[in-house]
Amino acid sequence: MHARLALVFLLFVALAAAQPLPAPAPADVGCNGVFLTYAPEAHQRIRPFVDPAAAAAGRQPYSFRASATVLNNGVRTLPSWALLVAFAHGEILVSLDGAVLTFGDDLPYNTTAAGGGATSLSGNPQTDLLTPIATAGDLTRIQATVKLVGTLFAGPEPVVTLPSAISLADPAYSCLPVATAPSVLSACCVLIAPDQPSAVPPAAGNTYLPRVTGDLVITYDVLQAHETTYLALVTLENNAAMGRLDGWELSWEWRRGEFVNSMRGAYPREVDTRGCLYGPQGQYYKDLDFSKVLNCERRPVVHDLPPSRRDDKSLGQIEHCCRNGTILPKTMDEAQSRSAFQMEVYKMPPDLNRTARPHAPANFRISGASPLNQAYACGQPALVSPTEFPDPSGLVSTTLAVSTWQAVCNMTVDDSKPSKPPQCCVSFSAFYNESVIPCSTCACGCPASTPAAPTTTCSTTAPALLLPPHALLMPFEWRAKETLKWYHDEELGAPPNPTPCGDSCGVSVNWHVATDAAGGWSARVTLFNWEEGADMRDWFATVVMDDKVYGGFEQAYSFNATAVGDGAIFMRGREGFELLLRESNVSGVDYPVPGKQQSVLSFTKKNGPGDVDVVGGDGFPTKVFFNGEECAMPQMIPSQGVGIRASRGVLVLLLFLLFF
Ligand SMILES: *[C@@H]1O[C@H](CO)[C@@H](O)[C@H](O)[C@H]1NC(C)=O
Ligand SMILES: *[C@@H]1O[C@H](CO)[C@@H](O)[C@H](O)[C@H]1NC(C)=O
Ligand SMILES: *[C@@H]1O[C@H](CO)[C@@H](O)[C@H](O)[C@H]1NC(C)=O
Ligand SMILES: *[C@@H]1O[C@H](CO)[C@@H](O)[C@H](O)[C@H]1NC(C)=O
Ligand SMILES: *[C@@H]1O[C@H](CO)[C@@H](O)[C@H](O)[C@H]1NC(C)=O
Ligand SMILES: *[C@@H]1O[C@H](CO)[C@@H](O)[C@H](O)[C@H]1NC(C)=O
Ligand SMILES: *[C@@H]1O[C@H](CO)[C@@H](O)[C@H](O)[C@H]1NC(C)=O
Repeated sequence: MHARLALVFLLFVALAAAQPLPAPAPADVGCNGVFLTYAPEAHQRIRPFVDPAAAAAGRQPYSFRASATVLNNGVRTLPSWALLVAFAHGEILVSLDGAVLTFGDDLPYNTTAAGGGATSLSGNPQTDLLTPIATAGDLTRIQATVKLVGTLFAGPEPVVTLPSAISLADPAYSCLPVATAPSVLSACCVLIAPDQPSAVPPAAGNTYLPRVTGDLVITYDVLQAHETTYLALVTLENNAAMGRLDGWELSWEWRRGEFVNSMRGAYPREVDTRGCLYGPQGQYYKDLDFSKVLNCERRPVVHDLPPSRRDDKSLGQIEHCCRNGTILPKTMDEAQSRSAFQMEVYKMPPDLNRTARPHAPANFRISGASPLNQAYACGQPALVSPTEFPDPSGLVSTTLAVSTWQAVCNMTVDDSKPSKPPQCCVSFSAFYNESVIPCSTCACGCPASTPAAPTTTCSTTAPALLLPPHALLMPFEWRAKETLKWYHDEELGAPPNPTPCGDSCGVSVNWHVATDAAGGWSARVTLFNWEEGADMRDWFATVVMDDKVYGGFEQAYSFNATAVGDGAIFMRGREGFELLLRESNVSGVDYPVPGKQQSVLSFTKKNGPGDVDVVGGDGFPTKVFFNGEECAMPQMIPSQGVGIRASRGVLVLLLFLLFF
């Protein structure tokens, strides 16, 4: 038994010690820049075998192996290199060695799903390529090799599995294909402006990328490094004026067999160490008590701690931690715009060397628990200049992090990825028109249709109907009857049958043009929360107005509102009114009522009454955002009929708001 274990261990050590041999240098083609190659190595027809017609149409799957190299032959270090490969055969990448997908997607990865653009591969673990001059031409430090395995679709043999182009994802370089061996794709990338100084200052022995900005920046600071472990501080910082996360969830991928021994300021979703116990980690760290290890997943998922753990001696006591995962924009509260946690990480061979820099994990992913939170896509972490921490004892000195990486996560707006439907909707009304114009049918999704309850009761395609104002306070199911009655009473014509479905939005915003006089005008904004689940703390909303009226914005009466430029008015609850309550049952009303908040906004007509045509449309916002999420807008604005009648319906809405 012992002998067998020892053998396994020896085998393991032998495997771990076997460093990958550097690929031989490709044939010299006279490239004095960054030389790229892509060489297919093998391919094989795999099942299912398709019929000849489908094969002729290029639908026969083949497995393939290929290797790509990035060789820095230039005079500048290439930090955080990324290779763009324009795959041309519907390739599905199944495994990657020496690189990760730049935007952290999972494998297997469909290279055509991302909208037909080139696939970006980032170096990992070799993220930076030094210059031949700085390394005496040491190939292990100037060249990176990526091994690709995947599936592609092609016709019958002979099959050519080359991509259509390769290039470098660095805007400082321009790449041109060069002819090398017949079945190899090569390109030479040269600096576009070699005379301009590099954006990357060559620090002593190190090259750092400039610190980055983006909607949300993840900073990975190694605070202490030891032979087998290191201590990392992970900081999430929100830079977006309208970004918000509630109950954030962060995950990443360990690429070097690491595992988390302990954590402060956050906790993993799963405490499961079986992966280590029976894996190479358990073999290597024989004396470690794995029952005390926190998490051994290759892709850990962590959450912020609740505020009650802030001062917990073993779990808390990390600055910016323990706020239940709420991250607000800096305009709301600078102190709540970041979250942080610390963790102790165990490394695995061959990285057990204090002089060797630890490797940051790859493929960060961040998301919020609320449907109102934006979706983010994160780039790969890049080495940046080390963070300076003030001396804890109060001396006027700073301590540098051992190493610092930053990954940028940007909100994904109408990206190639399918965007999720809006979560909030805007309705328009005005003092000169009795009806409310709701946002479109199914603006935030259609009611779920199940075999048990098919959606035959409403139409998912009919345009939205005008509403009586009091119907704004009712759940969708209750509106149909009121709407039919309204169409009858107001002689608005025959509504379609079945009537259109509701908007299914969790939050709605009513914009009501309340007054229009020679010197100024006003609008009343009402927020409705239809979510049953939770009250919304620290809500914020932004309305974007036309330039003509924006300059005349005076003030909001019950909201804390500021004009923040570009036509945007940022609004939040005043102190004591930060809470937008959930939908609830109220005695005396036979349907659940939404949580509400309301304020009047006043505007002057600076350049004379003729300049602003409130009724003609200037009085309505062009865009509305709630908690950073863009809301669906109505398809039209209220029009002024012949002869203005006093708006009875709007009075009803006011009364409702007063009473409930
Ligand atoms: C890959 O994505 C494309 C485009 O979305 C799709 O047409 C194709 O079926 C996908 N391939 C596989 C194998 O899923
Ligand atoms: C923290 O979040 C949980 C789940 O979302 C919620 O139940 C709890 O009330 C929140 N606590 C605070 C203090 O906000
Ligand atoms: C640690 O790294 C140094 C320099 O890279 C190397 O000389 C040494 O052999 C390494 N030690 C181990 C145990 O791998
Ligand atoms: C994120 O957005 C910033 C500008 O807002 C841009 O400079 C950066 O390249 C973007 N990063 C990614 C990973 O998309
Ligand atoms: C209004 O918001 C600003 C910051 O956005 C804050 O400093 C101020 O205290 C708020 N005022 C009230 C009355 O809530
Ligand atoms: C409101 O009342 C209905 C039925 O009377 C019940 O099904 C529902 O759960 C209640 N909702 C809340 C939020 O209390
Ligand atoms: C109110 O506005 C809507 C949309 O512009 C219009 O269809 C309707 O006729 C207007 N009602 C009156 C009474 O003017």
